[in-house]
Amino acid sequence: MITEIKKGVYWVGVVDWGIRHFHGRELSTHRGTTYNSYLIVDKKVVLVDAVWGPFARDLIANISEIIDPSKIDIVVANHAEMDHSGSLPEVMRLATNAQLVVSKRGASSIEGHFHEPWQFTPVGTGDRIPIGENELIFVEAPMLHWPDSMFTYLTGLNLLMPNDAFGQHYATAFRFNDEVNQEELFEEATKYYANILTPFSDLVLKKIDEVLALKLPVDMIAPSHGIIWRKDPLQIVTKYQQWATQKPERRAVVLYDTMWHGTRKMAEHIGQGLADTGVDYKILDMSATDRNDALVEVFRSHAVVIGSPTLNQGVLPTLAPILTDLVGLKFKNKIGAAFGSYGWSGESIKVIEEHFGKAGIPLVGQGVKAKWQPVGDDLAACRALGKEIGQIVKKG
Ligand code: FEO
Repeated sequence: MITEIKKGVYWVGVVDWGIRHFHGRELSTHRGTTYNSYLIVDKKVVLVDAVWGPFARDLIANISEIIDPSKIDIVVANHAEMDHSGSLPEVMRLATNAQLVVSKRGASSIEGHFHEPWQFTPVGTGDRIPIGENELIFVEAPMLHWPDSMFTYLTGLNLLMPNDAFGQHYATAFRFNDEVNQEELFEEATKYYANILTPFSDLVLKKIDEVLALKLPVDMIAPSHGIIWRKDPLQIVTKYQQWATQKPERRAVVLYDTMWHGTRKMAEHIGQGLADTGVDYKILDMSATDRNDALVEVFRSHAVVIGSPTLNQGVLPTLAPILTDLVGLKFKNKIGAAFGSYGWSGESIKVIEEHFGKAGIPLVGQGVKAKWQPVGDDLAACRALGKEIGQIVKKG
């Protein structure tokens, strides 16, 4: 599986076909993932990023097909998160003479993860390390997506290794963007951005400007997950610039859960109101929808409409994580509305609206509340709400 991606630069990573959840169970990975690790053989031998701990032996076996791991001179750890650093103890045990190059904040995060007496070489933006014919140049990228995150650039071959940035959780038989299904690739790249990078969008824009201002030619972008951008590599940079502006599409998403189908009927009538205006929309039953997939729809949409019956003075448990995500992911340029049925108290609307408030998402109209099963006036109010939302979305 080793692939020479540029002359003397080898992908020595691992494809994890089976993983279905990442970050514990926080992020779904329907198409698996890869942990990309790059071995540069110049006068000095450099390993850029490692792989997750359970795959340490695979990494070492891959490196060993190219070179004895004890000959590694430099290990670059662009980021301390375990999916890239978990196998560092095994690498450092074998690469006995290697210096461990990290960002300034990486020294403390890697020390905090491993508590090993490794000799760190902290680097900052613009620092260079000659490795023979070419040089490594480093660019700190704090909060993309951890404080320690860093990009490594290889001169001569014009190769950018930005760690998590521009990645996708996408296991395939191939290593390059021009070899895979484009729809799947961009679905995964969008999901990755929407679920991980959205709150850092302002920093994404600034960092891209900063990197472009360095005027380093980029012929290939090799992230730490998924495929390597070989064909038109800057297309993913352009996509990130577009995603980071958070300009929504003219569409709406209705997220709901229901106990006895009252709130479902309300969701469908809101949908009819949206349809009256010709606005595209999706209705997602959160009892049957993956949370991270739903967040992609939220990311794309201008209007986010959330409905729940009242349970224990709150919302149904399937909706609660989405409300937390709305606040945490700091979506911009959205409008929101709430609805739901209730029996005797009816706090769900207030709870949803409070979360929209904390998320900085302005509300449209009055939330629609229906006692017991919604009928005539209730459903008409839902349709009117959908229409009101649709008219705003249509204007853009
Ligand atoms: Fe932030 Fe792929 O780890």
